[in-house]
Amino acid sequence: MDKDRIPAHIAIIMDGNGRWAKQRGLPRLAGHNAGMKAMIEIVRRASDLGVKHLTVYAFSTENWKRSAQEISGLFRLLIRYVRTELKELMRNNVRLMILGDLSALPDDAVAAVNRAVSDTAGNTGMQFNIALNYGGRDEIVRAVNLLAGEVRDGRIEPGQITDEMISERLYTGARETGCGDPELIIRTSGEQRLSNFLLWQCAYSEFVFTDVYWPDFTPEEFEKAIGEFQSRDRRYGGRK
Ligand code: FPP
Repeated sequence: MDKDRIPAHIAIIMDGNGRWAKQRGLPRLAGHNAGMKAMIEIVRRASDLGVKHLTVYAFSTENWKRSAQEISGLFRLLIRYVRTELKELMRNNVRLMILGDLSALPDDAVAAVNRAVSDTAGNTGMQFNIALNYGGRDEIVRAVNLLAGEVRDGRIEPGQITDEMISERLYTGARETGCGDPELIIRTSGEQRLSNFLLWQCAYSEFVFTDVYWPDFTPEEFEKAIGEFQSRDRRYGGRK
């Protein structure tokens, strides 16, 4: 890995917590707990490496299909994360932001998350985005509805909607978190699909898949994935 060519925006699908737990005869939540610890290590390494935006997929719009017990366990973990890690985020000058629709989350989770978002709002180092109740299609539908309203109000001419105008209105857009498109998307646990993550933003992203389950994804694995990204020949549809 070349420390001078670190991608500015890295997104991660943290998959395999359940299988990691099953392999050890542990409940699924023990897997998520171990996954949270792995996430904390990756945030620290990403910040040390000078990544500008790190985005993780923590809860999708489809994850509501899981058992009530698993869902409430995940939100409890989230609350614990933002409470216990706030000091570390401040120390490392990391700014926390959320991609997704927080309104459907339990009140105590929303309050804890909003508090950490506002407490870190002045931090100027890495921006750490947690995708929560996030869905790629949902996000595009939301942007389309915003644009339709602007057309109705006469602020935009029909037929004049551009690529940039859509990008701006996504959670990653300039009007929201401003993290833009990821150069690199990593998915752990051997699955090779996007599962409704950053559908619009991944147009020219490089994908790195690893068989390692998320709780076993170490900072060394993270650097290996960045090294693989650096070995790719990115042409954006053009020629060298
Ligand atoms: C996918 O593994 C993981 C999730 C749906 C949750 C991700 C959550 C964390 C890494 C921990 C906590 C972090 C926060 C911010 C709360 P899976 O359960 O689908 O694994 P499986 O496919 O092996 O069952």
